[in-house]
Amino acid sequence: MSTNPTASETGPSDDFPADFLDVDDLTAAQLDAVLDRAEALKTGRDATTLPRTTLAMLFEKPSTRTRASFETGMTQLGGHAMFLGPDDIQLGHGEPLKDTARALAGYADAIMARTFDHGDVETLAEYADVPVVNGLTDEAHPCQTLADLLTIRQAFGGLDDVSVAWVGDGNNVARSFAVGCALAGVDLTVATPDGFGLGDDVLDRCTGLGAAPTLADGPADAVADADVVYTDVWVSMGQEKRREEKLPAFDGYQLNEALLAGTDADVMHCLPAHRGEEITDDVIESDRALVWEQAENRMHAQKALLVELLT
Ligand code: CP
Ligand code: NVA
Repeated sequence: MSTNPTASETGPSDDFPADFLDVDDLTAAQLDAVLDRAEALKTGRDATTLPRTTLAMLFEKPSTRTRASFETGMTQLGGHAMFLGPDDIQLGHGEPLKDTARALAGYADAIMARTFDHGDVETLAEYADVPVVNGLTDEAHPCQTLADLLTIRQAFGGLDDVSVAWVGDGNNVARSFAVGCALAGVDLTVATPDGFGLGDDVLDRCTGLGAAPTLADGPADAVADADVVYTDVWVSMGQEKRREEKLPAFDGYQLNEALLAGTDADVMHCLPAHRGEEITDDVIESDRALVWEQAENRMHAQKALLVELLT
């Protein structure tokens, strides 16, 4: 566990980025500060609020956790969150995103967006002169990574000496998580089927941060020495038409008791889970699962992020 003073004790980090589009927008020290503050907010040691602050939440895809955690988080901070779904606003009827960005920035103190195209959150950040937070794109899910690292830190008392295995699709959640592990110094081993890896861009970013993940020789190799095994759905939102093409590639990648036998690894999943596909019901319902801590920690981590972005 970090022995640094919490961010609330040291004050806002210098040079905190204007936007949070992926986890390596932060330095390692800023990431640590966000996690420190998240713990302090969670325990009540930090009572920072953001009164009369509004977060506009733009969703092109469905959400349970992201929507509910940002909305309740803003309530707890003394602010307000405004839900803008795909059918609710003129964006869904042809208004350019750059116009939406500038209009929303005139009302809201920050914008959180869940889009298909990662370029869309970049466009929002370019045109909105308030902080933009990525609430998931096809390429990245950095808010999930904040909660994941907070969960590992709390479960293991720190991030050093924890070995994590990612087993499954090299998708948006995996990509941000790999970069977050590299930034935070978490040992990561990855098992992804051929053609569904993290992507060279992510491996290059991890290498640039000094910690490329180990590429395992299949799921059994990946989990052998893992303290935590993490997976996500095999068919992400927007990929439904690729379902028949993708599923056969993931044969053998399911988190089940046979794969985990002989390990005492904990299990993580960002949720929603598709029981019977990437994970079995007995594994996700077992004592191994950290999934509910992960889900709750979304709120604490995002509250900390918003405080850092807005103070
Ligand atoms: N993990 C996550 O982002 O969940 P939602 O899709 O429910 O927001
Ligand atoms: N990879 C999943 C994550 C959902 C939170 C998706 O993009 O659908």
